Amino acid sequence: PTNVGILAMDIYFPPTCVSQEALEGHDGVSKGKYTIGLGQDCMAFCSEVEDVISMSLTVVASLLEKFNVDPKQIGRLEVGSETVIDKSKSIKTFLMQVFEASGNTDIEGVDSTNACYGGTAALFNCVNWVESSSWDGRYGLVVCTDSAVYAEGPARPTGGAAAIAMLVGPDAPIAFESKLRGSHMSHAYDFYKPNLASEYPVVDGKLSQTCYLMALDSCYRIFCEKFEKLEGRPFSISDSDYFVFHSPYNKLVQKSFGRLYFNDFMRNLSFVDEAARETLAPYASLSSDESYQSRDLEKANQKAAKHVYDAKVQPSTLIPKQVGNMYTASLYAAFASLVHNKNTSLVGKRVVLFSYGSGLTATMFSLRLQEGQHPFNLSNIVTVMNVSDKLKQRLEIPPEKFVETLKIMEHRYGGKDFVTSKDCSNLPPGTFYLTSVDSMYRRYYAKK
Ligand code: ACO
Repeated sequence: PTNVGILAMDIYFPPTCVSQEALEGHDGVSKGKYTIGLGQDCMAFCSEVEDVISMSLTVVASLLEKFNVDPKQIGRLEVGSETVIDKSKSIKTFLMQVFEASGNTDIEGVDSTNACYGGTAALFNCVNWVESSSWDGRYGLVVCTDSAVYAEGPARPTGGAAAIAMLVGPDAPIAFESKLRGSHMSHAYDFYKPNLASEYPVVDGKLSQTCYLMALDSCYRIFCEKFEKLEGRPFSISDSDYFVFHSPYNKLVQKSFGRLYFNDFMRNLSFVDEAARETLAPYASLSSDESYQSRDLEKANQKAAKHVYDAKVQPSTLIPKQVGNMYTASLYAAFASLVHNKNTSLVGKRVVLFSYGSGLTATMFSLRLQEGQHPFNLSNIVTVMNVSDKLKQRLEIPPEKFVETLKIMEHRYGGKDFVTSKDCSNLPPGTFYLTSVDSMYRRYYAKK
């Protein structure tokens, strides 16, 4: 098979959200901290009738229906998630309900977990499967689903929630350049979830930011080496039309692209423009350690890279700014934003993606976009995802109500023997929702 990659995708995020500006007021932080400081506009969250399982059921059912894919045509189903509801039973097995109904139980794959990286692991598994000798000619299906919630404090505004489904197969409009991958994996305690009784992570915010940027540098170095071996010339930012980042909050995406630009400046002056050379010159002699600590360098990077950021990164920032960190779904929601904004103008373009999961695991990889064939083409993906309407139709919830909901969810997490309010009036038709959890912790869902 050739041009293996993403044939179709769909996204679901809860229709309930809180505005970051309202949250600044509620939390009593200085005005602008979340909106300008973190670069976030809005944050989606699950109400008590939604969770990672209901969101993934919704997005899988929607993708199959809207792209007219027979559930029997799926041969591999992989889920990426870091929201653990059960320590043994995978989310994938809940999704099997959709396929059992049509008599298909011959589907490989389970869940992949490592912070925000699980979705990328799942996607690579599916792409590798289609490219392998065990491929049986059917499609792979990848689901990234997460609800990102933090304890009260500075990390809380960096939550979010969403599920994304991606159909994988040959002759895809979004094809992998499989030889172009650079990974960096190491041991760090930057963000982790050791308390199994709580949905909230333990997080060292500053360290997680440094780990992210160090992993980015390392992945970019390896990515460039592989490109040069393959193409016989060095890679620079100008070799890719767009860059898409895992997006915990937009400010980190701005810093990351600035950092890539600084890498190019250090590799070869001719990779950056005249003005940037001047802006960055004072930092050329910093040691690598110093370079991660220097706030002045961070600001200089962002300034030097601004015009390139606007062209190559900004189009991918819409959904992450509006929905927040979606953990495993964040990178692919950023990519979905790019497809939504640029549509068929992406034909022939290269897009480089950076996936990061704390703990830590990271990969930079490359996609090449083409027209595709209906229903698996870029403009149909844009129509099906319907991002503008989904964003417009959301209900803004006041911060007090958001905090109240998180309190209920804290209590419900890991709990049994309860029924939900079953109030699904906010949910669009076709959405799955949680109705009850019985005395044996078995979860029940209904479809609106
Ligand atoms: N107006 C404008 N900007 C402001 C204002 C204001 N009133 N107040 C603060 N800022 C700026 C700060 O200068 C800073 O920007 P800078 O980094 O460019 O200097 C930014 O807002 C954030 O302010 P901090 O004081 O650094 O924020 P704090 O330390 O309170 O929290 C953090 C931020 C660490 C990101 C926290 O939200 C967190 O821990 N989040 C979770 C961890 C995370 O997402 N890590 C990312 C990688 S791992 C993952 O994906 C989970």
